[in-house]
Amino acid sequence: MSAFPRTTTATAPGKIILLGEHAVVYGRPAIAVPVTDVTVTATIRDCAAGSGCTILAHDLGHTVALDNADSTNPLAFIVQLTLAELQLPDNPDWQIEIHSQIPIAGGLGSGAAVSTAICRAIFTHSGHAPDPSRISALVYRSEELYHGTPSGIDNTVIAYAMPIWFVKGGTIEPFTSGNTFTMVIADSGISSPTKETVADVRRQWQAEPARFEAIFDEIAALVHAARRQIEYGTIDKLGALMDQNQLLLEALGVSSPRLQTLIEAARQAGAWGAKLSGGGRGGNVIALVEDARVTRVSAALTEAGAKRVLTTQITATQQRD
Ligand code: MEV
Repeated sequence: MSAFPRTTTATAPGKIILLGEHAVVYGRPAIAVPVTDVTVTATIRDCAAGSGCTILAHDLGHTVALDNADSTNPLAFIVQLTLAELQLPDNPDWQIEIHSQIPIAGGLGSGAAVSTAICRAIFTHSGHAPDPSRISALVYRSEELYHGTPSGIDNTVIAYAMPIWFVKGGTIEPFTSGNTFTMVIADSGISSPTKETVADVRRQWQAEPARFEAIFDEIAALVHAARRQIEYGTIDKLGALMDQNQLLLEALGVSSPRLQTLIEAARQAGAWGAKLSGGGRGGNVIALVEDARVTRVSAALTEAGAKRVLTTQITATQQRD
């Protein structure tokens, strides 16, 4: 170690799925956007020779020595995977410290964001350009640990940090937005691992494939319609599509009375539309809200029991002259 140990910091945003969750696991499209108002930060510091690699994740309640980590530890897993990918020593003398503002199992992509921040920090610290496509592929492998059969949407939107139109196995497509719009995001305070809701939907799909395929097709039609409205900038029309998507998520069995109370509160306070976002059962609901009503809708969500309310803006794509 030199007299001045090197330090590298990298961040990753959270994400919301605007429409299309669950159906996206079965090859239908979905639209997702990064949420930069909440982030994960990973900092790597060089340590004394021979000290090995320690991962400190205060918010996640972990301190892990890399050479002693359980093979199912997701933090150690992404570190080992990235070291191998970059052909680095398997136990470098580093302290990796992680701070997360993203609630775990809350539908905002906390697992993918933690892995992305770690991966980006290792790429940069070891002198490699943090290529989003390589990082997304590595994070996908850690997502498989978190929830078994991920579509790949979380790692993609978070590693690329831009709004995307996503189809499993397809090419990454950024989408354009004809207008700027605001989403209010409300945390139900109930943690619900995506792995469980995805596995539940899979069990039901296996029992009733025709019914579930039909629901996935209906969701896909809404996602296509939403894309057109976003591109035209007719954002108010997006609300009704979100409401219809919510009904189909209820039919898949991934909503809950608590989420529905929050969704109803947002609609009553004047949101154009509202739905759960992500795996469901708990986690977050999102509401599409005209700027003049953001304060009112946020207050109504808090009143209805939301543990935390954020707003995020999806900005209009700059048009070339
Ligand atoms: C989780 O953010 C979205 C789900 O569709 C799962 C996935 O796409 O892997 C529920």
